Amino acid sequence: MSLGGPRRANRWTILPALSGDAPVLAALHTACFEDPWQAELIGRVLGTPGGFGMVARDRDEIVGFALCRSAAGEGEVLTLCVRQASRRHGIGRALVRAALDLAKARGLASLFLEVAENNAAARGLYADAGFEAVGRRSGYYRNASGIAVDALTLHCSLVQGTPRAISDISQ
Ligand SMILES: CC(C)(COP(=O)(O)OP(=O)(O)OC[C@H]1O[C@@H](n2cnc3c(N)ncnc32)[C@H](O)[C@@H]1OP(=O)(O)O)[C@@H](O)C(=O)NCCC(=O)NCCS
Repeated sequence: MSLGGPRRANRWTILPALSGDAPVLAALHTACFEDPWQAELIGRVLGTPGGFGMVARDRDEIVGFALCRSAAGEGEVLTLCVRQASRRHGIGRALVRAALDLAKARGLASLFLEVAENNAAARGLYADAGFEAVGRRSGYYRNASGIAVDALTLHCSLVQGTPRAISDISQ
């Protein structure tokens, strides 16, 4: 089952993530984050009833993925990344779109996620997809130099008529 793409002249396609993809996803996660996730954890997320994910596949290679989970009617994007060489071609946007579509198809009311306040690329991506800041977690992340960075909690409603984001979150 294809979940979207390819777009423009790109060759990538968005497909559901499978538990068997976990080792490749872990390698990609390691290349994209300072705090890498093990294949075992990724496989566990995909293996639980509320877990779901999607991969961007360029020919035979997975070049990006997103992992999500649902609980009590709400969804959460746990992680999302695109390999360096494939960025700025719309793959991140397509993964977010697919996550929103799948969450909606599962009957979820909204998607939440956490993003580092200083992650301009991710914040641009999520703002572009309709996410809005609804909270802040002080010092939630610690970068490689040990410096604490706040996380913003972002929310995207999948139903109409939901209240707007809290307005006093500085962005
Ligand atoms: C964030 C990330 C997934 C974006 O993936 P991507 O495939 O490059 O994103 P897209 O090409 O789909 O970009 C979609 C939009 O996001 C925003 N964006 C993406 N990269 C950006 C950057 N470096 N600076 C500013 N805005 C950016 C733009 O609004 C862009 O739209 P545009 O290209 O029309 O300007 C990628 O940079 C990444 O994997 N980063 C490391 C891991 C990470 O930070 N993940 C998010 C954790 S919450």
